Amino acid sequence: MCAELTFKYTPDITMMLDWLASVNTFTIGIIVVLFALLVKWSRQRPGRYPPGPSGYPIIGSLPLLRRLGSRPHVIFRDLRAEFGDVFSVRVGRSLLVVINGIDALKEAFIKRAEDFSDRPDTFRSSVVLKRNGIVPSSGQHWKLTRTFALSTLREFGFGKRSLEARVMEEIRVFLEVLGDQKGKLYDPKDFIQLSISNIICNIVFGKRFDHDDAKFWKLIELLEESFRLSQTVSTAFNIPWLRYLPGDIFSLNKIRNNANELISYMHEQINDHKNTFDPDNPRDFMDVFIKEQNRQSSSNAVFDDFNLEVTVLNLFVAGTETTATTIRWTILQLMYHQDIQARLRKEIDRVVGSSRFPTFNDKENMPYYSAVITEALRFGNIAPLSVPHGAQKDIEFRGMFIPKGSTIVANLDSVHFDPSVFEEPEKFNPDRFLDADGKLNGNEKLVLAFSLGRRVCLGESLARLELFLFLTSLIQRFELHPEIPDKMPTGIPTKGLQSGPPDYKVKVVKIN
Ligand code: HEM
Repeated sequence: MCAELTFKYTPDITMMLDWLASVNTFTIGIIVVLFALLVKWSRQRPGRYPPGPSGYPIIGSLPLLRRLGSRPHVIFRDLRAEFGDVFSVRVGRSLLVVINGIDALKEAFIKRAEDFSDRPDTFRSSVVLKRNGIVPSSGQHWKLTRTFALSTLREFGFGKRSLEARVMEEIRVFLEVLGDQKGKLYDPKDFIQLSISNIICNIVFGKRFDHDDAKFWKLIELLEESFRLSQTVSTAFNIPWLRYLPGDIFSLNKIRNNANELISYMHEQINDHKNTFDPDNPRDFMDVFIKEQNRQSSSNAVFDDFNLEVTVLNLFVAGTETTATTIRWTILQLMYHQDIQARLRKEIDRVVGSSRFPTFNDKENMPYYSAVITEALRFGNIAPLSVPHGAQKDIEFRGMFIPKGSTIVANLDSVHFDPSVFEEPEKFNPDRFLDADGKLNGNEKLVLAFSLGRRVCLGESLARLELFLFLTSLIQRFELHPEIPDKMPTGIPTKGLQSGPPDYKVKVVKIN
């Protein structure tokens, strides 16, 4: 019996090899078929999808978008010429639908706002920030958080004179620091960023940082790194499994760690506020939120701590780098266009004089300033692709089908640098916004730097106030001169928004 059993269960090596060979062939066969299906499945672009390049199997057009690093909008100029105002690009399994030109942008983001105002599910918005706050959220949660934030920010000065006084406090310090340089060449980047950041931090959590505050520079470093990474790897956000690849080559884990570090700072601020909270004397945005949180009888996701942390983080991030970068673009252009600088100073002299600082009321009498800042916003083009929107349901648009889950891009660059909208768009020319009498000619409405529709920048009024007071106070008191007069620096900056101006130094000479 035993012998029989032994005989029965002793493996026959030839049979086993045959079996293995057959399994391998079978397995390889299955793999080949699955791979072929995957390739077909990942390349397919059903007829009614917006047209676009076919891309590579599985990864789609990821290499195309990464080819120019942080400048996919430059590639989109060619794709628009080839495929029209609404085209699509595949990134992994998901579809990136790019809307170009003023007509299509208005049709989608204004007329069809109900369909085009959500955010996409990305690694950062869904996995890291769990669709909280203002920027990453959608639907009812976004509506309630945005409405609360706007009305509270108004309470703390948005659109009021009291805010002007806060902004002027920072400007005075900034001008003093500039004056202290005594005509030396100086890179104003850090100080502009600190001053602008102090304004939003003051409104949101009642804090003002000094220039040598190590904590502040750590926050700015995290913020800048996040901006840099999210621009260079934003396409990878659509393929969340990439974070499991060894070595974090798409920096997704780095992005998550940065966001968590920033959130934990906001968490500390909330704890400090809760410990010193006085319901009768709300000091800032955080206090008003906490007051509302205490008032809510049952737990409400809009008024929980994590939503507050992400909202405050959104305001800090969106309110610092953007305005500071626009100021730096404008200074660069004014240094290299002495004629524009002189004309602006003449207008300031005429309207404000030299005995007082400009006030926001002066703006309506200063069309040349409006033309200069509009051109700086167009030319600076700091958010060429705005912030991605997303289709939370299937959408029919201009006879095309945009499937649920697609990322939708408002291509602002397609207006700002379209030669049929702005002649010679590569030239910095404020006169394009003025008529023969020196008044605004209406073309300023074509500049969409703050985007359009329901998601339009929540901080636009604060940003416009900051830009006006900073730039006019600066030009009123100082002449700006470049380091190398005949050669404007080019290229992308070493830090911060990749669409910011190249690094530069300025020589400021006090006007007596
Ligand atoms: C020159 C300065 C600025 C520019 C060019 C700018 C531009 C933009 C753009 C293009 C968007 C995307 C809108 C969209 O999704 O379609 C945006 C959103 C946003 N901005 Fe600004 N921004 C600036 C300053 C500020 C400031 C100072 C704040 C601070 C309060 C701020 C807060 C926000 C917020 C919270 C959002 C998200 C809105 C939402 O998702 O509902 N921005 N901004």
